[in-house]
Amino acid sequence: MLVENLKDNSVKPAGTFSYSYKETLATSQKINWRIEDIIGGDRQLDFSRPFMPESLARIEEIPFLSAGEKVILNQIKGHTYLAMFGLVEEFILPFVLDHVRPSLDQDDYRVRAFLQFAGEEAKHIQLFKTFTEEFHKNFVTECAVIGPPAELAKMVLSHQPLTVALVILQLEWMTQRHYLDSIKDNQELDAQFKSLLKHHWLEEAQHAKLDTMMIEALAVGMSAEEIEKAVDGYLEIGGFLDQDLKRQTIFDLEALERATGHILSENEREEFIRVQHQSNRWTYLGTGMTHPKFLEMLEKLSPAQRKRIEEVAPMFC
Ligand SMILES: [Fe+2]
Ligand SMILES: [Fe+2]
Repeated sequence: MLVENLKDNSVKPAGTFSYSYKETLATSQKINWRIEDIIGGDRQLDFSRPFMPESLARIEEIPFLSAGEKVILNQIKGHTYLAMFGLVEEFILPFVLDHVRPSLDQDDYRVRAFLQFAGEEAKHIQLFKTFTEEFHKNFVTECAVIGPPAELAKMVLSHQPLTVALVILQLEWMTQRHYLDSIKDNQELDAQFKSLLKHHWLEEAQHAKLDTMMIEALAVGMSAEEIEKAVDGYLEIGGFLDQDLKRQTIFDLEALERATGHILSENEREEFIRVQHQSNRWTYLGTGMTHPKFLEMLEKLSPAQRKRIEEVAPMFC
């Protein structure tokens, strides 16, 4: 019945969305910033400070690292954050372009809003690369990351559009939550890294709205079975990413050992992987999966599918 509502724009169930392409575009144009205003020149990363908030990094839960080692691990996780966003933005960009390409002659505001969205994601890819270069100028060791981005993009984009749009919506709300809940009022973090996260958040706020409208359009006329299949794909991609997050946890452990010379014992390794895999699950999956706006979208598509996601979410929190 809620899916039926999507077929008729005049029917707006309570609590659902009322975003507009025109307003979203206008907000984006006001915010639009340049990479060179955020990083480079005298805007340097300060390696005496942490880059990631503790509520995401969960480093204090590891008892056998010294205070100095904890800061280094935090910075390695900052590098991972740059890599993870670089990775996911590589499939968001072609997906948004493909979504708008067949209907360039329809709503002008819609076309411009989606092209602005795509342009911003291309800029974000470059922003994350620039920060990564700055990181490597001053960090003592290489930090391996999962990928390559093209391979992940191929896997994600092999799914149906509604599945991909759900994955992207989760990522957009996740970025909102990271900044507002953990970073905005945090006075400990490096100012440059905080500025990166703030500027990313400012533009992602519009992406979350545009992606919501994209999902509303994609779901028009879909049956409950079709919605269920799209959510199957979403969970499949989540499972794939979770495996990658475990691999990334081991890369971070190895980078920490190289950077500090502290080689962990077998027990310490196990404890490290358990705590840090869960930190990555929360950061990159749980914070999006449990975001109230993401759940509200699922509810609109199908209350049964919302329930299904809510049942698996605790594993990622
Ligand atoms: Fe982005
Ligand atoms: Fe985005």
